[in-house]
Amino acid sequence: MAASRRPLTIALNRGDRILSDSLSLLARAGIEPAESIERSRKLVFDSRCGRARLVIMRGSDVPTFVEYGAADLGVAGKDTLLEHGGTGYYERLDLKIAPCRLMTAVPVGFREPHGRPLRVATKFVRIAREHYADIGRAVEIIPLSGAMEIAPLMGLADCIVDIVETGTTLKANGLEARELIAESTARVIVNRASLKVRLGEIEALLATLRSAIGD
Ligand code: PRP
Repeated sequence: MAASRRPLTIALNRGDRILSDSLSLLARAGIEPAESIERSRKLVFDSRCGRARLVIMRGSDVPTFVEYGAADLGVAGKDTLLEHGGTGYYERLDLKIAPCRLMTAVPVGFREPHGRPLRVATKFVRIAREHYADIGRAVEIIPLSGAMEIAPLMGLADCIVDIVETGTTLKANGLEARELIAESTARVIVNRASLKVRLGEIEALLATLRSAIGD
C-alpha cells in the first residue's frame, strides 16, 4: 500500500479528561473510533472513516511514539512536552483542553531547610532541575512516578513539583502551591518526516481541528 494510503496514526493520552476532550475534537474533524474506546481493553482503534488509527497510551509516551515515527501525530500536554524535551516532532496546535499549571508545592507552614539542599519529589525531573537552576536554588531531585503529594507527608521530600488543575489534591494532602513554573494545555505534535510526506492530509486535519476549537 502506498505510504499516503496508510491511515494516519494518532497517539492519544489515555487520561480520562484529556482523552474524552481529544476524542470530541477529533470527532468534529470527522475522525471517530469504529468502536467504543471507553468500553474496550484494546489500545489500537481504526477510525470509522478509515483515514486514521487511534492509539491509546500513557501521556508521557506520546512524544516518544511521535518522535520515532511510530505515530504520525499525537496529543500531549505541554507539561509532558517540556519534560520530554524531544526534537523529532513539531508542536503544531494548542487544543486549549486539559489546562493545568506546573507548580512547586510545599506543606502548609513549610520552613526552608538550612545546611542542605532542598529535597524535591517529582516526575518532572528535567523541568524541576531547570526551574531550581534558574532561581539558583540547590536541590536534590527525588524521581517518583506519581502521587508526589505523599512525599512531603511521609518525610521523603521537602516539597514537590507537580501539575495543579483544581488544587483539590494539594489541599487534601496539606500542601499549598508556591511558584508557577509553566501553564500547560494539550498540544498536537506531528512527526517531522510525516509532515513532509503527508503535508496536505495533515494540514487539512490541523485546519479542521483549529476551526473546531474556534481559532
Ligand atoms: C494529577 C496531578 C495531581 C492532580 C492535580 O494527577 O499529579 O495529583 O492531577 O489535580 P487537581 O489540582 O485537580 O487536584 P493525575 O490524576 O493526572 O494522575 P498522576 O498522578 O498519574 O499524574
